[in-house]
Amino acid sequence: MRPKRIVTRAPSNIALMKYMGKLDSQKNIPDNPSLSMTLSRLCTVVEVEVTRGEAESRWVAEAPRFRPLDLSRGGIWASPELSTSGRSKVLTHVDRVRALIPSLYDRFGLEWDQEVWRFGQLQFRTANTFPAASGIASSASSFAALTLATCAAFTRDAEVWNRIWADRSDFRRALAQISRLGSGSSCRSFEGPWVYWEGENAFAPVELALPEMAHFVVLIRTQPKDVSSSEAHLRVKTSPLWAGRVDRVIHRTTEVLQAMKTADLQAVSRLAWAELWEMHSLFHTAAQPFTYWEPGTLQALQFLSQWVGQDAGPIVTLDAGPNVHLIVDQKYRDLWLSRLKAEFTGFQILEDVQGAGAQIDEWSTDGLG
Ligand code: PMV
Repeated sequence: MRPKRIVTRAPSNIALMKYMGKLDSQKNIPDNPSLSMTLSRLCTVVEVEVTRGEAESRWVAEAPRFRPLDLSRGGIWASPELSTSGRSKVLTHVDRVRALIPSLYDRFGLEWDQEVWRFGQLQFRTANTFPAASGIASSASSFAALTLATCAAFTRDAEVWNRIWADRSDFRRALAQISRLGSGSSCRSFEGPWVYWEGENAFAPVELALPEMAHFVVLIRTQPKDVSSSEAHLRVKTSPLWAGRVDRVIHRTTEVLQAMKTADLQAVSRLAWAELWEMHSLFHTAAQPFTYWEPGTLQALQFLSQWVGQDAGPIVTLDAGPNVHLIVDQKYRDLWLSRLKAEFTGFQILEDVQGAGAQIDEWSTDGLG
């Protein structure tokens, strides 16, 4: 077996309509549809190195040795610190993916490498370009990049893989389904710029008419969160506001898709604002209430409220974290960057643009073994 190395990357995604509450927690089937924008440079890079050994997987607590060129200009490049349970979640997912390889490969007429399948040792190194556990959906980007790297590790022929990847959207979507089993929201990081997820399926709706969008996040706090999103998915159902939640979010999602078809950004902004308040209100009113908000979160929401639903106004949202995300028409990017810098002097502001989803950056057998 020739040792090989594959480097993948997957961006984070920012939901306007939220995945909160699971219908099936084994398979990560959501209670309601959600809708997100795929990012680009705020991403996870995974390097998998395949060598002959025991058929097992290892996590190496180091950043990948290959850093894609466009991610090498400054910025964060940090290997995430994983707890024992985090590491076991990752390696359990890799085992799950390995078990699904024959059916995935058969379905798409791909040949898998039997030797790698039986004797391949997979070693993973990963890095994020943003602070981990800060509500920038690091689990979405890391599980998407990890799923892509693991699936690709078993191919006999990189060219055939690349062709199917480029030509067949159902191949990406099959990988998104596998990724969802490890982390629900990761299924929205396989295409872009906008992804709709309902039940088992996540895909980019074709008939949207939005302009190119820019993204900012005001980093209010970058410490790991006290309540994990898995825990949040459970606790929201104990809120008195859970009654009717699924119907409301289905209705709002239909409205937001309609507004996106006519490029009505003011309506999108109002709907996203209502959704962010509803999700966080579920947290604040759970039987065991909790909050992700910091004083800076409220300061930002108060400041931004004056532009919600206005011409040139931002789409504002929060994930399960204190950091405030803005999505704006690219033509207002400079305006919003200077406004945010002037208002949030004490906070770091990260910037990104819309993206197209997970990709492979490098296949190599050179210099290995
Ligand atoms: O994929 P999970 O279980 O980490 O869910 C995260 C869900 C939110 O980020 C809070 C909302 C969303 O739709 O992304």
